Amino acid sequence: MCGIVGYIGFRDAFPILIKGLKRLEYRGYDSAGIALNNGNIKVYKCKGKVSDLESFIGNDDISGHVGMGHTRWATHGVPNDINAHPHKSQNGHFTLIHNGIIENYAELRKKLSNRGYSFKSETDSEVLANLIEYIYLKGNVTPEIAIRLALTKVEGAYGLVIMANKQPDTLFAARKGSPLVIGVGEDEYFLASDATPIVEYTKSVIYLNDNDVAIIKKDELVLKNIKNDTLTPKVQKLDLDIGQIDKNGFDHFMIKEIYEQPKAISDTFRGRVSATHDITLGGLYDILPKLENARRILIIGCGTSWHAGMVGEYLIEELARIPVEVEYASEFRYRKPVIYKDDIVIAISQSGETADTLAAIKMAKEAGTTVLGICNVVGSSIPRETDGGVYTHAGPEIGVASTKAFTAQVTVLTMIAILLGKRRGSIDNYLYKELIDGLISLPNKIEEVLKHNNVIKEISSHIKDAPNCLYLGRGYLFPVALEGALKLKEISYIHAEGYPAAEMKHGPIALIDEKMPVVVIATKDSSYEKIVSNIQEVKARKGVVLAIVTQGDTVIKNMADYVIEIPEIPEQLAALLTVIPLQLLSYHIAIMRGCNVDQPRNLAKSVTVE
Ligand code: G6P
Repeated sequence: MCGIVGYIGFRDAFPILIKGLKRLEYRGYDSAGIALNNGNIKVYKCKGKVSDLESFIGNDDISGHVGMGHTRWATHGVPNDINAHPHKSQNGHFTLIHNGIIENYAELRKKLSNRGYSFKSETDSEVLANLIEYIYLKGNVTPEIAIRLALTKVEGAYGLVIMANKQPDTLFAARKGSPLVIGVGEDEYFLASDATPIVEYTKSVIYLNDNDVAIIKKDELVLKNIKNDTLTPKVQKLDLDIGQIDKNGFDHFMIKEIYEQPKAISDTFRGRVSATHDITLGGLYDILPKLENARRILIIGCGTSWHAGMVGEYLIEELARIPVEVEYASEFRYRKPVIYKDDIVIAISQSGETADTLAAIKMAKEAGTTVLGICNVVGSSIPRETDGGVYTHAGPEIGVASTKAFTAQVTVLTMIAILLGKRRGSIDNYLYKELIDGLISLPNKIEEVLKHNNVIKEISSHIKDAPNCLYLGRGYLFPVALEGALKLKEISYIHAEGYPAAEMKHGPIALIDEKMPVVVIATKDSSYEKIVSNIQEVKARKGVVLAIVTQGDTVIKNMADYVIEIPEIPEQLAALLTVIPLQLLSYHIAIMRGCNVDQPRNLAKSVTVE
């Protein structure tokens, strides 16, 4: 989704803006632009990558200590030079960059047209620039008042940075629904839609809240809300290192993040699972009594986080015997679900900023329900909107296709399920201990799976040209099948579907022929015999089978075309291990097909609009 970066201070703004935009590339975008204020606001923008923007600017004079930059992910209007941000108001009094959607833009555009405004772009953002200008000129008010008044008239979401022509020493920033972070330096301030462009300059940050407006000069920050109440900024310390957002010698962020999983999982359970087999989740401490007596748990999320939620459903129902429903946040928020006050909602999100998940949380809170969050990005919106929760601490995930965030989310859900099972007396001591030991053994077992990278790469070369691919699994491995299929389609653009293996007979079996690779996740668990039969059914129809099996399996080895072995693990934890070869498989296939794995077409890392 759109990325925002801004700078005001004593340094040259341009290099900071360009570097910041490159740091934000991972969010997904189709055009880029910057504005520099050197007493006179200059705007450069074009369709394409940040590097295209650099070539476009060429040798122009790019001096200036105040500036802002934007990467756009199209919502209103196609990706082109004109729709790219920044947008200037008609008479040039205001220049802005915007992340989010102004929902009543059509109505505002019409009103402004009736008052003589014309529009260069198809964007909702230009409408806002003109609305601010209209109020400024008509009301003869200061830029700050015009901005605040305009924001009271818009519906929708925004993260905004605005320059006023008559106030060249100031940047204005505002937030509602779309994240914005201010980095605080000595005589300088940085702005960004997430902390990645800021971390190399300062670790002191202020996260704007909804309806905040910041008026920023190089040596002064005034924080207000749109109603003009003055607020006290809360400066927080950023727990992020620059090394965490570099590729560290890997070719892509995705492969780096796949390889980081042993560490990410250790970081997720560090300090929470003790050698004496205790689980402590500080962020749930006050809510645990409510959670263990919940009538029902509703898990909401999108994309990969929804898949993690499904594993969570299986875990919590089996181990804690509490009914669980998992739902896409986008469906939940619009379909009028029944929500009881003694339900608990768990929202799962890597970024903590997904618009649909945030909206679903608001709805659940309005229904009087306790809402918990499982998020990766510290200080993001979801942890701030929820009553409690657990950070995954997987470190920054930059690759658009989620990998380590998934395993970290499942690790948290596993800890929650085991903890609830223990407190409710629904798991015996033997299983409790086995699962905790299993969790502790996971980082080493993932290292073992990663050693098969070359084998997986070789197998990938046989699958890379398939137009379709089917992923099958049962029980805990069904969500893994869904996740494996999602990884493949996201980054290699091969059509892939995940199915419960037994459902194959009710449709997908019709697709199977010698051209159809079928990835079967078939480790030794309580459904093993059944999945062996499913593999036979595929082989009988000449399908090409790649099976993920438990080390030492000979039965499936004799039937499948390719196998990848993983170490033995209790079935409740198998999702955490079996997903690793599927991540590697999609990575290698995408590379072999010449795809951009870190920034797949049309996708965004953090979907901050609905
Ligand atoms: C986007 C990303 C996915 C991610 C989903 C949910 O679609 O491309 O990788 O799973 O959003 O994001 P969240 O940050 O809420 O986990």
